[in-house]
Amino acid sequence: MKHYRIAAIPGDGIGAEVIGAGIEVLKALARRDGGFAMEFESFDWGSDYYHQHGVMMPADGLEQVADFDALYFGAVGAPDVPDHVTLWGLRLAICQSFDQYANVRPTRILPGIEGPLRGVGPDRLDWVIVRENSEGEYAGQGGRSHRGLPEEVATEVAIFTRSGVTRIMRFAFELARSRPRKKLTVVTKSNAQRHGMVMWDEIAAEVAAEYPDVEWGKELVDAMTMRMTLRPETLDTIVATNLHADILSDLAAALAGSLGIAPTSNLNPERRFPSMFEPIHGSAFDITGKGIANPIGTFWTGTLMLDHLGEPEAATRLMRAVERVTADHAFHTPDLGGEATTRKVTDAVVAAIDGDN
Ligand code: NAI
Ligand code: MG
Repeated sequence: MKHYRIAAIPGDGIGAEVIGAGIEVLKALARRDGGFAMEFESFDWGSDYYHQHGVMMPADGLEQVADFDALYFGAVGAPDVPDHVTLWGLRLAICQSFDQYANVRPTRILPGIEGPLRGVGPDRLDWVIVRENSEGEYAGQGGRSHRGLPEEVATEVAIFTRSGVTRIMRFAFELARSRPRKKLTVVTKSNAQRHGMVMWDEIAAEVAAEYPDVEWGKELVDAMTMRMTLRPETLDTIVATNLHADILSDLAAALAGSLGIAPTSNLNPERRFPSMFEPIHGSAFDITGKGIANPIGTFWTGTLMLDHLGEPEAATRLMRAVERVTADHAFHTPDLGGEATTRKVTDAVVAAIDGDN
């Protein structure tokens, strides 16, 4: 029997609530399947840890989790710690050190959920956004000089490397090829940003030559927001830079109904390091401790983790259970306009797994 070791890093705010729920559901799934076991070890890193130790995770934190099969991450962010400290201290530290260069974000309108776009259901909105996750605008290059003086200067330099762009482009073409429509849209801003973004376009065309069966096209990021909103059915797989895809994927989550539903994976496709799986939402302090966080994004994230581990049947079973539950409005949390609690949704998904044939 296969035995997977998962490092759970709940982090801050509702992170603990949704990851707790996710672990329950994944354990139920392994029990139901019988073909594999999942063992979770929890790490209490995040803002509370920061208040005690002055850092978001211990100095040997990465070594502690390097040998796990996957990381299951909640969220980071606290009202009393600057966001760039929490983000760079934990989440980005893991993504960058483990070379998780492909951030993959599926978006679909799930059964029972109404998105904000009139007349747009699952038949018209089914996307996967691939976000370059290791360089670009979030490479951390830049600095500040003459702090506080009138001549203070701050630079934030976007870094694009031929190897970095080529590998994400190849990943995106492979993913597009694996989906029924075999269609990829490459997003840039190569009209205004005439160095890095023009290189993106050139590399896209080079890599496209290796994938004659994939239909591909380009879109500027500003026009992309309109196309996502007005003509969602013209899109399938999408690839964009770190910053552009960060923004577009929040839009995608909103168009699909709620931030609380959307999943993501941070992949090291070569598997030299563990990959990390997380709901895309943050720590949501406004609802922390109220027991009403929507756990669906964390469950959907669990299906991505199972796929990566090589358990596609279990992933499909979990997605089926999730969709059975979202189809019923009685199990919608307040972010979806309902009154259900995290507990109620979790119990319903576990019951759907147990009752699944
Ligand atoms: P957020 O995602 O935490 O919350 C935005 C809104 O969506 C809030 O009204 C929240 O209640 C709601 N929401 C989010 N997830 C939900 C869920 N599962 N169920 C129900 N409602 C949900 O984003 P916000 O408020 O901009 O940021 C809060 C903190 O989270 C900040 O410190 C930010 O830096 C951090 N953050 C962390 C991320 C991560 O760890 N990957 C991603 C985004 C934000
Ligand atoms: Mg974001």
